[in-house]
Amino acid sequence: MQQHDLIAALPKAELHLHIEGSFEPELMFEIAKRNQVQIPYQSVEEVKQAYNFHNLQSFLDIYYAGASVLLYAQDFYDLAWAYFEKCQQDNVVHTEIMFDPQTHTDRGVAFETVIQGLHRACVDAEQKLGITSYLIMSFLRHLSEDAAFETLKQAEPFKDKIKIVGLDSSEVGHPPSKFERVFSKARQQGYLVVAHAGEEGPADYVWEALDLLKVNRIDHGVRSEEDDILMQRLISEKMPLTVCPLSNLKLCVVDDMAQHNIQRMLQKGVMVTVNSDDPAYFGGYMNDNFYAIADALALSNLELKQLAIHSFQASFLPNEQKTKWINKINAI
Ligand code: ADE
Ligand code: ZN
Repeated sequence: MQQHDLIAALPKAELHLHIEGSFEPELMFEIAKRNQVQIPYQSVEEVKQAYNFHNLQSFLDIYYAGASVLLYAQDFYDLAWAYFEKCQQDNVVHTEIMFDPQTHTDRGVAFETVIQGLHRACVDAEQKLGITSYLIMSFLRHLSEDAAFETLKQAEPFKDKIKIVGLDSSEVGHPPSKFERVFSKARQQGYLVVAHAGEEGPADYVWEALDLLKVNRIDHGVRSEEDDILMQRLISEKMPLTVCPLSNLKLCVVDDMAQHNIQRMLQKGVMVTVNSDDPAYFGGYMNDNFYAIADALALSNLELKQLAIHSFQASFLPNEQKTKWINKINAI
């Protein structure tokens, strides 16, 4: 089997995907038109030309602007449904989807509108496509901890639809310690917790995410490699890192895919996984991320299978579901 065919054939779980980052320009234009919202672009080509990022902030500015056309539950449904169709194409059978409620509630869109649209798409994806999913409510770390507390409160009536709480947006200058109290409350309320750390920020932020936020998983974490003691901890605790190779390349976290550290971390025994982060902006969905690292780093077939196995081990699926998918991978 050709290596790209093996990648396509492997069942995979996606653990780091921002639903607002899966907003393709074609759908953005369609929704902007039906909602009669102005966007500062004349064509899809013009939008794509603006996707010329040099760091996380230059991306986030465009990403938040794009999300501003989303107004109604149907818009959130259409956004999520388009992503589920990509999952089906890429054999992503389970996904844990981040959404940023504050990006919408701060514009006057009700929390309920967002969750209604996303949740209905999740239910339909399971019924019609057989894809399971969980929602991760992410706090924007450039905003205050009080604002995160307010969001946690708004989520209370919808707690049965949200399994996980996360932390994203501008990392440097907004350490995990800023959110220690609200994460503690979220954990008390029964949420599992994840946080972006060590994407642009230092390895110290990964320590804080582990020790202060008590996360079950680290998003990105690629800068952990700069700290040997942290690496030993990640390995001994089997702490998953949700690595996003094309994102790292687009946001200049790495200069060249051949220099990406995912293979080195895998070989050292870190529970690394492959994910697409914001695929509409970074040039590809799950399989494109696998193809990019397989080609640039000459990954073996065994390493590719290991990464797919990790995606289920690092997921929040029940154990019997994990075992079912891992057995299928081992049978390929
Ligand atoms: N929000 C969407 N994508 C993000 C990323 N890669 N890092 C931090 N916040 C994000
Ligand atoms: Zn992310």
